[in-house]
Amino acid sequence: MNFEINKDLAPLTTFGIPARVSLYKEYDSVDMLTKISRTPEFSDNEVLHIGGGSNLLFVNDFKGLVLHSAIKGVKFYRKDEETVYAIAGAGENWDGFVARCVENGFGGIENLSGIPGEVGASAVQNIGAYGVEAKDAIHHVECFDTLTRKTVVFTNGECGFAYRDSRFKHEWKGRYYVIRVSFRLRPSEEARSLEYGPLARLRETLGHSPSIGDVRHEVLRIRDSKLPAPAVTGNAGSFFKNPIVSRYYFEEEILSRHPDVPFYPAGEKRVKLAAGWLIEHAGLKGAESGGAYIYPRQCLVIANRGDATAADVTSLADRVIDTVNREFGVRLEPEVNYIDSTVKVTVLGSGTSKGVPEIACGCRVCRSADTRDKRLRASVMVRTQGMDILIDASPDLRAQALANDIGKIDAILVTHSHYDHVGGFDDLRPFCANGPLPIYVRKDVDTDLRKRLDYCFRDHLYPGVPAFDMRVIDNSPFFINGLKIIPIEVMHGKLPIFGYRIGDFAYITDAKTIAEEELEKLRGLDTLIINALRHKEHFAHLNIREAIALVENIKPKRAYFTHFNHEAGLHDELAASLPDDIFPCYDGMTIEIK
Ligand code: EPU
Repeated sequence: MNFEINKDLAPLTTFGIPARVSLYKEYDSVDMLTKISRTPEFSDNEVLHIGGGSNLLFVNDFKGLVLHSAIKGVKFYRKDEETVYAIAGAGENWDGFVARCVENGFGGIENLSGIPGEVGASAVQNIGAYGVEAKDAIHHVECFDTLTRKTVVFTNGECGFAYRDSRFKHEWKGRYYVIRVSFRLRPSEEARSLEYGPLARLRETLGHSPSIGDVRHEVLRIRDSKLPAPAVTGNAGSFFKNPIVSRYYFEEEILSRHPDVPFYPAGEKRVKLAAGWLIEHAGLKGAESGGAYIYPRQCLVIANRGDATAADVTSLADRVIDTVNREFGVRLEPEVNYIDSTVKVTVLGSGTSKGVPEIACGCRVCRSADTRDKRLRASVMVRTQGMDILIDASPDLRAQALANDIGKIDAILVTHSHYDHVGGFDDLRPFCANGPLPIYVRKDVDTDLRKRLDYCFRDHLYPGVPAFDMRVIDNSPFFINGLKIIPIEVMHGKLPIFGYRIGDFAYITDAKTIAEEELEKLRGLDTLIINALRHKEHFAHLNIREAIALVENIKPKRAYFTHFNHEAGLHDELAASLPDDIFPCYDGMTIEIK
């Protein structure tokens, strides 16, 4: 089987930003996809499945395999007077498919005219516009299961559709590839979804009830007036999602100061805001960074002047998120998928359970004026693939979040349930605003946390308590939104606990010994962070000499020590005493693994 090597990704995305992929393959049948899934190229690489590339930003070159479906074909089945099923291959151009439905007089998706991309992505992303979402018409989705190599069919209800969301973007990511999507349409020319402002006026403008063709025509006209055509100006449509906030916050803090703010009810106690309006009213219309700029006619879009780099786009997006947050207290989330394999680690705390300085200690380390000798309780934040993953929630979490400007957390990995690693759980409240936080834990940690945080797991909850989605893991790899996490079991004295490997980075804390088969999972690392308590022996923690010996055995390219107590000495002296490729962590330190 031939794979294209070192392929240019720019023409495969609507943003048109330069990036390369090591291996690329397009398939046009399930048979061919099955064959691909049996190759070493598939099993030995990170695999990314793309559609029309209209919602992707490659932040750097992709070291892995990119797959693209060219499964084509559209078929219509008339069920009865009321229903027609339209079944389309995942690789069909979305707007071409909508046009065929409208030409045949089948209504239901005409409001979704003109959206760039392919049919497969309509289900993954639950595309939406002008009052209609793909989920309103999707009947079922046929997929290829990469685990069993068989096809499976999911009903609409099984796909977990929500605003710009589905299970394909989370727990199903990487496992199921969409092959075909079936839509339930009406064999009728009469347009039904006319609630969106400009469409509501269509009857008046036309002087008769609008047909599905009229709606398609009007939608294409509106899109043309507001949104840049990707063939002319590179862009990925809405760069941000429209944020959903509590009605209380909205009325108190936003509506009171901006009576003209557009908003839409989103359930009983929440409202959806227009991100484009917030960006414009934060003064960012036309703002630019290098070759990237805010599209002035629809501020929700970041456009490419022609020479934009991914860094231009991400720095502009970061500026938008910060400015809107400062102005309105609302944190925008990118809708565009960042494909970013760089792992950026921020050390939030590098101290052991008592921290450094220790309370009431007068030793020279505890009295040191060097900020690197001030060690909060151990934890790290890992940023990769656009996600922020916290490892352990230390009792110092509040101070750590403020000092490091942490705005969101997508998931938490817990190593064990000792207080210095979980004492910050209550301070996670601000990060639960959009729903329960996914927490990955061993079974024993789950049991401990439910006891300790019983007020978060009762039937009748006090309003405002943090919300956790406990996900019990065992000692086998698992995925967070497609990102592979490998647990490493280490012994903390007699207690088995977890360290974690993410790509070529691993974080291990509170280890004393590591079994041979677990050490195997740490081979070929770029960067290892591991605990090294002090010079003297300790029954449950590696000391510095033992940690050096372990690093020499594992052989990462570089290693960092953490979880120090004051007996480890002054940071400067410690740094000078360690072998060349081993460094002491300090709070606030960042490490990038490319
Ligand atoms: N607005 C501004 N300034 C702007 C942009 C918008 O004041 O720069 C105001 C508008 O005047 C209006 C409100 O914000 O009062 C909403 O604007 P619009 O109707 O254009 O829709 P949107 O909420 O900004 C969403 C979708 C679009 C979709 C339109 C129409 C998201 C993230 N975006 O945008 O989808 O076309 O509704 O239904 O939900 C896409 O996904 O790529 C996309 C373009």
